[in-house]
Amino acid sequence: MPTQADRLMDVAIRRSFLIPSAEIYGSPAGFYDYGAVGSQIKRKIENLWRQEFLQKEGFHEIETSVIVPEAVLKASGHAENFADPLVTCESCRQKFRADHLIGENRQAKKDGVKTAGLPPAELSALIRKYGILCPQCKKPALSDVGWFNMMFRTNIGPIEGNTAYFRPETAQGIFMDFPRIIRNYGGKLPIGIGQVGKSARNEISPRQGLIRMREFTQMELEYFFNPRQQTHPKFAKVAHRKVRFVEGAVPPREITLVEALSAGLVPNEIMAYFLWKQWEFYRMVGIPPDKMYFRKMPPEETPHYSKGNVDLEVVTSYGSIETVGTAYRTDYDLSQHMKHSKADLSVFDEETRQKVVPHVVEPSMGVDRLFWCVLEHTFREKSAGKDWEWFDFPPCIAPYHAWVFPLMKKDGLDEKAQAVEEQLREAGLSVCYQESGSIGRRYARADEIGVPYCITIDYETMEKNDVTVRFRNDGRQIRVKISELAEKIAQFAKEGRVTLN
Ligand code: GAP
Repeated sequence: MPTQADRLMDVAIRRSFLIPSAEIYGSPAGFYDYGAVGSQIKRKIENLWRQEFLQKEGFHEIETSVIVPEAVLKASGHAENFADPLVTCESCRQKFRADHLIGENRQAKKDGVKTAGLPPAELSALIRKYGILCPQCKKPALSDVGWFNMMFRTNIGPIEGNTAYFRPETAQGIFMDFPRIIRNYGGKLPIGIGQVGKSARNEISPRQGLIRMREFTQMELEYFFNPRQQTHPKFAKVAHRKVRFVEGAVPPREITLVEALSAGLVPNEIMAYFLWKQWEFYRMVGIPPDKMYFRKMPPEETPHYSKGNVDLEVVTSYGSIETVGTAYRTDYDLSQHMKHSKADLSVFDEETRQKVVPHVVEPSMGVDRLFWCVLEHTFREKSAGKDWEWFDFPPCIAPYHAWVFPLMKKDGLDEKAQAVEEQLREAGLSVCYQESGSIGRRYARADEIGVPYCITIDYETMEKNDVTVRFRNDGRQIRVKISELAEKIAQFAKEGRVTLN
């Protein structure tokens, strides 16, 4: 029996949102391509992030190498610590993540066993205690647990030993480029530097589609600040806004950001401000507020570099999924790189006339997990009004602004429709011309990939130079002059309008 997630993945593949990578060679687990429709949505999500987290904040975007020399990742701690617990079946030689096997065991679940942060010896003991069998061959043949480093290793050039890795996070490139960027912008703190790009982790058991992949896209922001100034100039504006927060096993509760701060759920105003930005961003892309919440990470789950982590989790058919991790990385990375490279990464603070090693708050968002959450929360079943499944994407991330149709492929309607399409493209809108099938079928196809507006050129157009614009969610239509069309469509999209009224 296919699960809800299987069903949605099937829809996503059929409608050109996603394509399993290297499909004709059997699709290795953990890799997905974005199809012609999916890549437009993904790019719009990334560009909206650029707008909200960089452009509106006056921050800088960079693009750093994905292949990173070993020295960088030794200094950051990844070469030593970026590992997952691995167990091998000594009978069938299959390999599994030890913590996942324990987490999935019914009795261990009942006993409330937590595996985060446990050393291999304790994980091995739990496997024995619960008599966990190999999930593949069902034999009691699981080995002792060991560590498996998750980085993809390679060699720079032909000389063996010149080791490098595919970056496991985009953040380290930002730390590498930090000294040049801050110098270019007057050496003043605070400064925000972000990037959108691929990271790779050689996950032991990639699963749940886009949730645990081996290659994925991150949108990361590093906000560098003077540790003596843990305030944010815009925090006052959002201090009394409400978000949902969970700590420990209790259900999420509504809380203002200032309350979260005084309850110690968030380490400083800076992080609280960026949590609010995330909350708003998630709402903009279509995640309902009652399906998401922040979670303060318990110390045993907090990464080695962080003095406080808060995750943004979304409820999905796979369960609750961490989709953003925000960490107070302190001066951990810059200090480590200073120690290992001997470069001076400190900044001279004009006010105190002292050198400081900046601290960092890092909101790190995974695009693919968010993409999946958007699909889950915007997918609509057939209903009385629509005899097809469709997507209720907010126009700001819909794959096209509009589809353009001639009512008939004759009497000059098709040429006129192509001219309208061209005009809209020239005005910077993403549109697609469709002439095959009945009008009803074309509306259905547009709805199926979440296009918010359909524009039809009919016989009246030839007389009055106006067209019909159909709104996706209620199917109602208005007539708009061709001379005003581009401006109107852009305006509807900006307002997020998906119904006539
Ligand atoms: N620089 C910090 C960092 O990378 P992380 O919590 O490991 O932190 C941040 O990753 C985000 O990247 C996650 O919240 C998630 O959205 C995404 N991510 C991490 N591993 C992933 C994977 N294997 N597949 C898909 N997305 C992943």
